[in-house]
Amino acid sequence: MMLEPVLTHEPHAEPDGDFLDAVLHGLSLPKRSLPSRFLYDAHGSNLFEHITELPEYYPTRTEIGLLRSQAGEIGAALPSGAVVVEFGSGSSRKTELLLAALDRPAAYVPIDISAAALYPAARRIAQSFPDVDVYPVLGGFHDLERMRLPLGDSRLVGFFPGSTIGNFSQRAAVEFLLSARRLLGPGAVFLLGVDLQKPLDILLPAYNDADGVTASFNLNLLARINRDLEGAFDLAAFEHAAIYNERYQRIEMHLRSLALQSASVAGRTFCFAAGETIHTENSHKYTPEGFERLARDGGWEVSQVFVDKNRLFSVQLLA
Ligand SMILES: C[S@@+](CC[C@H](N)C(=O)[O-])C[C@H]1O[C@@H](n2cnc3c(N)ncnc32)[C@H](O)[C@@H]1O
Repeated sequence: MMLEPVLTHEPHAEPDGDFLDAVLHGLSLPKRSLPSRFLYDAHGSNLFEHITELPEYYPTRTEIGLLRSQAGEIGAALPSGAVVVEFGSGSSRKTELLLAALDRPAAYVPIDISAAALYPAARRIAQSFPDVDVYPVLGGFHDLERMRLPLGDSRLVGFFPGSTIGNFSQRAAVEFLLSARRLLGPGAVFLLGVDLQKPLDILLPAYNDADGVTASFNLNLLARINRDLEGAFDLAAFEHAAIYNERYQRIEMHLRSLALQSASVAGRTFCFAAGETIHTENSHKYTPEGFERLARDGGWEVSQVFVDKNRLFSVQLLA
């Protein structure tokens, strides 16, 4: 059954005001950058789904493979009658595998910033799992502190697949884990997908696919600024760039200016040198030991780790 959201919180800010402020601030920085959550409007969420099906994009199929092959062990490690709270739920495709592995799951709380992804996915889950109460929550990770879960003394299972935790800096990841721990409460367990360090000949094509879908996903941010914020970016004058930053052990997505140019947003003009970039997303890659340290700093202990045979991706159970 799909129900009204039971999480009561004041939205962090007016969504549009939030976007405008973030864009004006991010484009004014000496090294320009925009928060990656704005990549996910309706078109961006669709493009992301398309990315997950690309041959170069190993994370989704590898994580799904792990959730399938380890379903018995994962199900046995999680409580029966659980309430699953998913962060950045998107299309909730992996959730179907988790709910099927659990013993009599009671409820599902998907949290996502993208209404276009959240509500259809919540309806689909409610139809496929009629005994599970579904409470969709439209909100951001920055809102977690304000959220409440009035679900009694349910057994809570956090779920954070897709290596979305890799989008955070180390510091933001620790803050997120601490907030998730406070939201989920004592006794909760947390199942996360965490991408692993690997050779660049596998990593770089995953963010630079031959069909240019990742490029469209990245450039869509400028299209969204043009549409929602009276922006005047020439999309043909920017290109997608994905590079590996060795120092921070992360893939970085940038939008690179192809010429000296200016672009305006809500009446403000910004000049770009040829080659200058706007940093739009990070995707940190971990070693199992590095993630264990991060989890501990965030108030959790790793209790089980599932890794595929090629050691590309991990599913980690924290307690
Ligand atoms: C990398 S996708 C992963 C989607 C899905 N969980 C999966 O594993 O395929 C990231 C998801 O998190 C959502 N998201 C990104 N930033 C967010 C934020 N700050 N707050 C809430 N949701 C966010 C996006 O809308 C998107 O659905």
